[in-house]
Amino acid sequence: MFSRRLFLASTSAALWLPKMAYAQGGKPHFTLGVASGTPKLDGFILWTRLAPDPLNGGGMPAGIAEIRVRVCTDEAMRNTVRDEIVRTSDEDAHSVHYKVTGLKPGREYFYQFYYGDEESVIGRTRTTDPNAPEARVALASCQHYETGYYAAYRDMAEWVPDCVIHTGDYIYEGGISALGAQMRDVGGGERRLFEIVRQHNSNEITTLWDYRNRHALYRSDPHLQAAHAVAPWIVAMDDHEVDNNWASDTPQDPEKQTPLEFQIRRYAAFKAYYEHMPIEAPPTFHKMRATLQLYGKYHMGPALIHLLDTRQFRSDQPCGDGRKPLCDEALDPERTMMGAAQEAWLTNSLKTSPAPFNVIATQVWYTPYRYTEAPVTNMDSWDGYPAARKRLSETLADGVSNPVFLTGDWHTAMASTVYETPFDQTSRRVGHELVGSSISSSCPWARDMEIVRDANPHVSYLNGKKRGYLRATFTKDNCQAEFRIVEDSGRPDSLVTTDTEVRTKDM
Ligand SMILES: [Fe+2]
Repeated sequence: MFSRRLFLASTSAALWLPKMAYAQGGKPHFTLGVASGTPKLDGFILWTRLAPDPLNGGGMPAGIAEIRVRVCTDEAMRNTVRDEIVRTSDEDAHSVHYKVTGLKPGREYFYQFYYGDEESVIGRTRTTDPNAPEARVALASCQHYETGYYAAYRDMAEWVPDCVIHTGDYIYEGGISALGAQMRDVGGGERRLFEIVRQHNSNEITTLWDYRNRHALYRSDPHLQAAHAVAPWIVAMDDHEVDNNWASDTPQDPEKQTPLEFQIRRYAAFKAYYEHMPIEAPPTFHKMRATLQLYGKYHMGPALIHLLDTRQFRSDQPCGDGRKPLCDEALDPERTMMGAAQEAWLTNSLKTSPAPFNVIATQVWYTPYRYTEAPVTNMDSWDGYPAARKRLSETLADGVSNPVFLTGDWHTAMASTVYETPFDQTSRRVGHELVGSSISSSCPWARDMEIVRDANPHVSYLNGKKRGYLRATFTKDNCQAEFRIVEDSGRPDSLVTTDTEVRTKDM
């Protein structure tokens, strides 16, 4: 259930109070909350899903349902600017994607859905504005349901950001783990505590119904719902929304899934992702291959945000994936992280951008990282795609104003300075990378990273021990980042504090 208390504790000047969702007779339908996203100068996408039995297919009868949606300029929902009936059906799991256009830039709006005599909570959202003096951006990633509660999202909702960027691992595809705490070897004779605090709802997911039920499980969390209800989200998937470390047409374990089975699975995962996210369009087909449009740009005040999709169009991880020395395959100049169309789009946008800050939100680490004396590379990150990284770094070093990478994936909070030539601090400075920790996913490789910290002097902050997220505030000449950390991810009411603060103008 939505918590009113969250918003009473809000620091926002525009304090507002969502109403509780309820149903008069029968089961409630707005069990998964509301969301907004894909913010534009004049609108956004509003989302909800009718799901009286969310963990078992949704529970709606087959056929069409009509839902009323209202958009207002005030939290009391009096000054109405849109009031419409939208239709949905079992084709889309009774999800609603209502596209609003024609609004004013840089404004706050409130919205609510109605089904029969039932009303949803009231959501808050914003249109974008390139002329706004400031942009407050929250960065989230990696929210394994089993390994932690979402205190980070409770804290994020209290901050009331202008937008939330989610760089992926919104769900995890794996099966059910055993509950409880475990001491595990993390190498070097050291043992650390890991905990399973709640459980997945099925074995590893592969079908459309599996993916729907898994999204519904994650979305049933009240703190995740609160973060969705408070700001527009800008989202792209990483690997676990489909299958661990998949790349384009290749699954993690091709020996266990035929190419056709993986194409069907990929479509199921994309379809369910669309059904649960405030994004514009469902997956489309080219022959047997589904694609989902996720990359795009957003004008958030001084920051022009480019959200990348580094999963759907990439070359397969080289050298057999994993962490190992680079082999010749990795150096092939034809290898791509974004695919030709996305790479051309990004290069063109960066070269013509008038924004003081150019954000590149990417799923995987851009910063090179040495794991041992003899360099070992994480093949899934940009380290495994050196030619693609070189092309982008050359573009960035060539006069692009203040590039800042905002990144997830590695469950480790990090701040770095990016140089054009990896590990060469005499080469041109490209910009900075700020990595949020994971919302809840654990980091069994945190120690591996800590012990080689000195071999990575371009990294000024590193913390893989704690869960959390990033608050980044952009003004014309600075990006101020607060690394928020969760004291105890085994508790939904855990304290969340600032571990450190960095300013790009000091880095
Ligand atoms: Fe992850």
